[in-house]
Formats: sequence, C-alpha cells, structure tokens
Amino acid sequence: MIGVDLSNMRHFIPLPYEMALTPRLRLAHDRLQSGTGVGGEFTGWVHLPENYDREEFSRIQAAAGRIRSDSQALVVIGIGGSYLGARGVIECLCSPNYNLKKKNTPNIYFVGNGLDNDQLAEVEELLAGQDFSVNVISKSGTTTEPAVAFRFFRKLLEERYGHEEATRRIYATTDRAKGALKSLAAAEGYESFVVPDDIGGRYSVLTAVGLLPIAVAGIDIERLMAGAKSMMQTCSLADMETNPAWQYAGARYELQHRGMEIEVLACFDPFFRFMAEWWKQLYGESEGKEGKGLFPASVEYTADLHSMGQYLQEGRRNLFETVVRFAPREGELTVPYDEENGDGLNFLAGKTISELKQQAMDGTLLAHVEGGVPNIRICCEERNAFTLGELIYFFCYACGLSGYLLDVNPFDQPGVEAYKKNMFALLGKPGYEELGRGLREKLHGSQR
Ligand code: PA5
Repeated sequence: MIGVDLSNMRHFIPLPYEMALTPRLRLAHDRLQSGTGVGGEFTGWVHLPENYDREEFSRIQAAAGRIRSDSQALVVIGIGGSYLGARGVIECLCSPNYNLKKKNTPNIYFVGNGLDNDQLAEVEELLAGQDFSVNVISKSGTTTEPAVAFRFFRKLLEERYGHEEATRRIYATTDRAKGALKSLAAAEGYESFVVPDDIGGRYSVLTAVGLLPIAVAGIDIERLMAGAKSMMQTCSLADMETNPAWQYAGARYELQHRGMEIEVLACFDPFFRFMAEWWKQLYGESEGKEGKGLFPASVEYTADLHSMGQYLQEGRRNLFETVVRFAPREGELTVPYDEENGDGLNFLAGKTISELKQQAMDGTLLAHVEGGVPNIRICCEERNAFTLGELIYFFCYACGLSGYLLDVNPFDQPGVEAYKKNMFALLGKPGYEELGRGLREKLHGSQR
C-alpha cells in the first residue's frame, strides 16, 4: 500500500484546496478511466494490469528462461521509454551493481540510449568470451540511437554464432504491425513481443518493453503485475480520501499554482536512482508542453545533501520535494561498538543503518521545510517486486491526472521531434536536404 503524507506542504498553502480541486480531478479521472480525454487512444496502460495478454506474458517468461540458460549476458537496446523503466526496476530490486554481483542470471548491458562510441566499444569488449543475446526494443522501430546500436550487435552476433543462431538470439520488442524493426523481425524470424498500440513509450514498462529484461534479471514479474493491479484498483476510486494518486496529483498541482516550478524527487535509497530517471522522463515528457509543466529533477540522499543540500536549504524558493520512502527490511546491519571510540560514534552502536537513515530523513526534511521547501512524502512498504509494481502504476496514474489538470495531452511528445529533424537533416537523410542547407547556413553563420 502507498501512503501520501502531505503534512509538510499544508502550511505553505493558505487554505484547504482539496474541495475546490475535486471536480477537476474527477473529470481528469473519468477521462483516464474511459479513455475519452485528449490522447485517450494511449490510455491502454490504465487497465493493463488486469487486461494484459497472458499468452504473451508466458512467452516472455519462457524467453527469459531461455536467455538465462544460454547466455551470460543480455544486451538491451532501447532509449527513453524503451529503456529507463527496465533499468530502473532492475537497479532498484537487484542492485545498481547488478552486473558486478555473483549471480545465476546474465549480466545486462543497456545500449542504444545515446550516441557514444566508447559505450558501444566497451560493451563489445565486455562481451568477449561471453555467450550473449540481444533484446532490441523500439515501439516505432525507427529511432536512430537504438537502430544504430542494433546494427553493431547484430553484426557481432552473426560473426560470433553465424546467421541462424544469431537470429535465435535476437528478441525484438516493437509495434504489432509497422516500423522498420517489425519488418526486419518478420523477415528474419526473430522472436517478437508487442508494444501495444494504445500504450506510449514512457507508460510501457509493464509491457514486454520492461518485462523481458526484468524477468531475465530474475525478478518475479507476476508479483510486479500483482502490485500494479492492486494499485490499479485503488486508483480506480474517485475519491480524494482513498486515492493516493489524486492526493499526489492534487498537491503538486496546487504547489505549482503557488509558484513552485521545480519538483525534486528525493530518495534516501541509492538503489532508487534509475527509478528517478524513469520518473523524470514520465513527468517531463508528459507535462512539459505548451509552456507548462513542473521541471522534474532528482536527488539521492544523503549523498546529494553534500552537493545539492546547500541549494535546497537556501537557494531560490521555487521548488518542492517529493520524497519516496521504503519501509526498512528485517535483518539489517548495525553500527559496530568500538572499544577505543576514536571517532566518537559509540552513541550510534547497535543502531541499524535504517534507524540512522530515518533520523537523517526526518532531520533533513524538517530543515528543508524550515528553509521554505515544502515536501510530499510517498511512503511505501519494503522494496520488492509487488511494491514497485504499485509505485509504477501510482506514478503513471498521477501523471495522467496531472496532465489533464494542466490541460495538456499527457501522452504525446511533439517537442522530441525537433531535435530528430535537425539531426537527420545534418546527417544528410534523404528528404531533409532543404532543412539541412538552412541549418548548415545557420551553423556556419554563427561560427563566423
Ligand atoms: O515516451 C516515449 O514515447 C519516448 O521516450 C520513446 O519511448 C523513445 O523516444 C523511444 O521510442 P521508440 O520506442 O519508438 O524507439
């Protein structure tokens, strides 16, 4: 169960806002539930935890088992919504050091999430002497970064195993019917998984996009879906009292309305770092349009208290924190007693690291509130597949609500096209000649 604690933001708001916001939240909620809002054709994720394709789910589990048995490494190729969720869940539930750990599951290398020579070359080097498979993920099937990376790793597979075995080791996650990757997968006979038409990239982690790499890492994807389903049921209630997504979406909307332009997602758990990257894309791409939207940032405490702590405490007062907190686990490390007490820390001896963390969290948040930074606390049970399924669904649902409260389409990303067009034009893609000439003129003009 997820709880949203708003006690540290209330005194920044002069009057209770919930009643006034409820009709707008209800409208947003109805639009999400019925798929009748703007972008409603991309709300397939709303009922996904109940409606997902069981046959495909079993194929994902079988493919993950096969990869675990015939590969020491899996290369996952994808960018944005076709990358961040899987990495976030694997790092959060296994470890940011997953690849370095002793384990009976394959290493997982994420590539195609940028254009960097050294990243590709390094993964190629790391694969020397390791049996590997490739999961190429692209809904459109035409995104340049993953497509370029796929060329490299497909060639590497073919050189290593020959065409037939390479084909068996490639798993394609893409559109049901269209796109270059779909055509290639059909022509070559790669095992393929579908990104449903009605689910956009950043809302797709609970489809094959996220589930295959997550299952390869040994995470129980049935528990992940069960957590998401439980949160789906909670979020289906049109009620401020019981729906945590309403509470979160309402609070952040109200804070924004009061001049807070930046939302800083904070977690005291370093395993959460890539989930925060996923969250940033989800909210940044869903809300940031038509000159609107909170700017999503993230910090990892306590580490970032020694880098960003100063700004948070005393910088511009146009931000608030959203703090994700997981309940501690059983059997944690305790601070050892030291006879000499040279460091003066014996007052902590016998306490668990989580107890220290709890006090650090309480102290930090109180200081930030006193410094003029409100916070919203999102309290989760201990970190496991079920809890993470809940949290993913919760953030998606609150994001959909937030987009509708802002009156934007939370499911498109027209702004992402601008860089792509320019990049294609400068690289000389057929059809972009005129734009290319104009851009070169601007570039060389500005260099004069
Ligand atoms: O959320 C989105 O839609 C984007 O971040 C996409 O996931 C990203 O651009 C990758 O697109 P594709 O999966 O088509 O390669």
